[in-house]
Amino acid sequence: MKDTNSLSVIVLAAGKGTRMKSPLPKVLHPVVGQPMVKRVLDVAKALGAVQRRVVVGHGEALVRRVVEPMGAVAYSQKEQRGTADAVKAADPASLDGTVMILSGDVPLIEVADMQTVLTEFNALKADIAVVTADLKNPGSLGRIVRQKGELRAIVEASDAGPDTLKIREINSGAYVAKADVLTKLLDKVKPNNAKGEYYLTDIISIGIEEGYKVVAIKTRPAVAFGVNTQAELARASRIVFKRNRNRLMENGVVMIDPASVYAEDDVQIGSGSVVYPGVYLRGDTRIGNFCVLEPGVHIYSSIVGDSTHIKAGCYFENSVIGTKVQIGPYARLRPESDVGNEVHIGNFVELKKTKFGARSKAGHLSYLGDAIVGEDVNIGCGTITCNYAPDRKKYQTTIGNGVFVGSDVQFVAPVTIGAGATIASGSTVTEDVPADALAVARGRQVNKEGWKPKGS
Ligand code: UD1
Ligand code: MG
Repeated sequence: MKDTNSLSVIVLAAGKGTRMKSPLPKVLHPVVGQPMVKRVLDVAKALGAVQRRVVVGHGEALVRRVVEPMGAVAYSQKEQRGTADAVKAADPASLDGTVMILSGDVPLIEVADMQTVLTEFNALKADIAVVTADLKNPGSLGRIVRQKGELRAIVEASDAGPDTLKIREINSGAYVAKADVLTKLLDKVKPNNAKGEYYLTDIISIGIEEGYKVVAIKTRPAVAFGVNTQAELARASRIVFKRNRNRLMENGVVMIDPASVYAEDDVQIGSGSVVYPGVYLRGDTRIGNFCVLEPGVHIYSSIVGDSTHIKAGCYFENSVIGTKVQIGPYARLRPESDVGNEVHIGNFVELKKTKFGARSKAGHLSYLGDAIVGEDVNIGCGTITCNYAPDRKKYQTTIGNGVFVGSDVQFVAPVTIGAGATIASGSTVTEDVPADALAVARGRQVNKEGWKPKGS
């Protein structure tokens, strides 16, 4: 049965992107941590597209590896013979309802923009719509030619005369069309132009000739921002970073120097938190309220509780940090670290796959890997878990609640320290220690009085 209301999105992504001068297919270049084509497909998904089809060609295998896991279906365009040929490659004849066509290299489009376009397309009861924008510098983009305000055609810059080139309203490269109309018109496109390509833009003038309702829907210039060069890619990232900063500041985050703060799209920060210059927040990172992030903090997909103070130069990945924690400067949390509430972790401390209990302290220069550290534990300066054995396996260190570890202690895992035990400074602990015991595992000091080196 035909579903006349359904939306499908076709994303054009077969082009080479010669001007990127990069071995990576153009649409896979990331804008703020996400491939451009992924951003476009995310918008399509949020619009409720029942089908998302991506036309692939250059770097096909790589592009498929990104788009297929997102649930999009890739269609090969063997030879890049123009944008109309590309849409045909996606088999629009098999689609019903409404089809939206987007380019894979337009990373700044947002759901709200395209939702407005769809609403207008439906309200106008149009058959085809081209999405346009007014630009100060229309450059090499296709010009929207109107007569008495009525849409007539799209003329490519390479085919345009001087008067047409003065037009500032341009073709964004996004379109909406009824699936059956699109299919009919695509068959009528001929490669009659300077480049000898099948131009999708021709469906506008052909559609008007055939008596269809063809309209131009104007949006923000950002919708027409296509990336063709590395400089434009960097500009797109700069714009998305700014968007993300504004979103955070609107939620009450304090930024000392916003332009120097970088946060990816999914990052959340609670109100009242203060972010110093040079902070970089990535992935699925969530920071609580009233936190302080000092300069040079880099966090990847980690959760930080309220009122935690992260001092300069910290680097966290896939970790969870509790509330009222003091950490850094220069602390490193490697994946699967779990730091409890009110913990103090000082400079040059590294944790990996370690649970560090509430109110415990590791003030300086330690490595704790594959460890479970209880609550109210003191880890002295220079403590190391020797978790990696000559059999190339990792072993666990377990330290009970209230243990006091002196300075310069090595725990040779696997080893378990009972609650309330004390480990003397300089110990190399190779055996389990019972609760409340004192463990001393070091050579005894010998003082040789009046001793001088030989020959002196
Ligand atoms: C196209 C439009 C132009 C518009 C501009 C907006 C045409 C003829 N011109 O020009 O009016 O202002 O986009 O950015 O459509 N692609 C394929 N297969 C092909 C050719 C292109 O998949 O055979 C893809 C490209 O990868 C790209 C998109 O289609 O994602 C647009 O193609 P591109 O060559 O960049 O067209 P423009 O010259 O920029
Ligand atoms: Mg282009």
